[in-house]
Amino acid sequence: MNNIEFTYKDSLISWDKVIETSNTLSQYTKHLHLIADIGSSTEDKINYKEAESSVNLPFDFNLYKKVAEVAKKIDTENLKYIIVVGIGGSNLGTKAIYDGIVGTLDPFLSERIPKIIFADTVSPSLLEDIRTIIDKNITAHDEVLINVISKSGATTETIANFETIYSFFKNRFGDVKNRVVVTTDRDSRLWNKAKGYGFETLEIPAMIGGRYSVFSSVGLFPLVVAGFDVGSLLDGARMMRDECIKKDVIENPALTSAALIYLHNKAGVSIHNSFFFNPELESMGRWYRQLMGESIGKKFGFSGDEVNAGITPIVSIGSTDLHSMAQLYLGGPKDKFTTFVYAHVDDIKTSVPEDMLFPELVDGIKGREFSKIMDAIFGGVKESYKKNGLSFVEVRLPNMNEYTLGQFLQFKMLEMMYLAQLLGVNAFDQPNVEDYKRETRKILQEVRSF
Ligand code: PA5
Repeated sequence: MNNIEFTYKDSLISWDKVIETSNTLSQYTKHLHLIADIGSSTEDKINYKEAESSVNLPFDFNLYKKVAEVAKKIDTENLKYIIVVGIGGSNLGTKAIYDGIVGTLDPFLSERIPKIIFADTVSPSLLEDIRTIIDKNITAHDEVLINVISKSGATTETIANFETIYSFFKNRFGDVKNRVVVTTDRDSRLWNKAKGYGFETLEIPAMIGGRYSVFSSVGLFPLVVAGFDVGSLLDGARMMRDECIKKDVIENPALTSAALIYLHNKAGVSIHNSFFFNPELESMGRWYRQLMGESIGKKFGFSGDEVNAGITPIVSIGSTDLHSMAQLYLGGPKDKFTTFVYAHVDDIKTSVPEDMLFPELVDGIKGREFSKIMDAIFGGVKESYKKNGLSFVEVRLPNMNEYTLGQFLQFKMLEMMYLAQLLGVNAFDQPNVEDYKRETRKILQEVRSF
C-alpha cells in the first residue's frame, strides 16, 4: 500500500459525534465537490474563481506545462544553487517537501546538487553567508538561479532580500537578468516591474492564498528545477483531493480529522500538537503551523461577531523532543490534541553493529535496524499517551517520498478548510498579518524621512 493510513481509535471521541459534526458540513462538502468537478472536467481550462479552488491546482496541466517550460529554459548543466527568496506561504510548502526528501544534513552533502537555499527573514548573517557562497563557490552565472516569490509582490523581507542578493550576483557577474524568475500575482506591481526588466515571470492565480499555494508555480517551479519528482507529488495530491471531498466522513480523512480537532477544541482543548517522528519533517510542521495559525486564528467570525477563534499549533519532533517536552505532554495540563505523523523509512537499512563496544548499556539494540528502534520508541510514546488518558490520532506514511508528501499536504489543506467552517471563520484571509505589514511599512517610511 502506497497511501497514507489514518488511525483514529485513540481520539477519545465517539464515531457518532464525528458523524454528527461532519453532517453539519454536508453543504460545504457539496460546494467543494462542485469546485472540484469544474476543475477536473475541463482539464485545459481550470478556473480559480473560489477561495477553495486550490483543490484544482494538482489537476492543472497547463500550469505544470508552463512551469516545466520555464524550468527547461533556465535550467543548466552547471546549476548548483536555486535561491528561493520568499516567506510564509511563499516558501514554507516548498521547504517542507525539500527537507522531507533531502533530509536535515543536506547542506553538508556537497555532491547533491542543485541545492535550494531559502532566504526568508531579514538576517544580516544569512545574507553574508549567501554573499560568501556567490563569491567563493560560484564560478559562472549559470550556476545560480534566483526565484523571488511573493504573492502580493510587496513583502518587506522578500523585496529587501531579493534586491540585496541580486546586487551581490550582478556585481560578480554583470548582467544576470536571465538567471531570475519572478513568481507573483499577475498585475501585482512586482509583476509589472519584472516584465519591464525582462525577467521571466510565473503567475500565482489571484484567488489562491499563500498558504494554499504549494501546488502552484510557487512550489512546483523550484522543485522541478531542483530535480524533484513533481509528477508523483501531484499524483499524491490528486488522489488525496478526491478522498478528501467524499461525502461519507468514514471515507474522508480530512473531514474526520477536522471534526476531531473541532470536537476537542469545543471541549476546551486549545493546542494542537503535530508530532512528527521523522526529523526531516520539521519543516512540514512549520508549514502546518502557518496553515492552522493563519486559517483559523481569527478575531471575527462569518457573521462579523467578535469570536477570537483559534487553536495554537505546536510542532514536536520524535524522538528529540521527548527528551525536553514529554514530561509536560504526559504530566502537564490536558490542553493538547496530538496528531502523530510517522513515515516509515525501511529502504535505508542502517543498523546498530552486532559487535558493540558497550553491549551491556542498553538492551535490545544490538544489530537492530534504526527504523525498528524508532518503531519501538513510537510504540512506547503511544502507550504512554494511552496510559495517561491523552487523545491522539495517527497518520502513517508508508514511505517518505514526493507521492506521500503530496498526499499529506493536500489532506491538511482540506482538513483546514473543513475546520474553519466548523469554527465559523474564513480560512483564506489573514487581516492581522496585513496589519503588521502595513505598520512595518509606516515605520520604515518614517525612519527614512529623518
Ligand atoms: O498567508 C499569507 O498570506 C502570508 O503569510 C504570506 O504568505 C506571507 O506574508 C508572504 O506574503 P507574500 O507572498 O505576499 O510575499
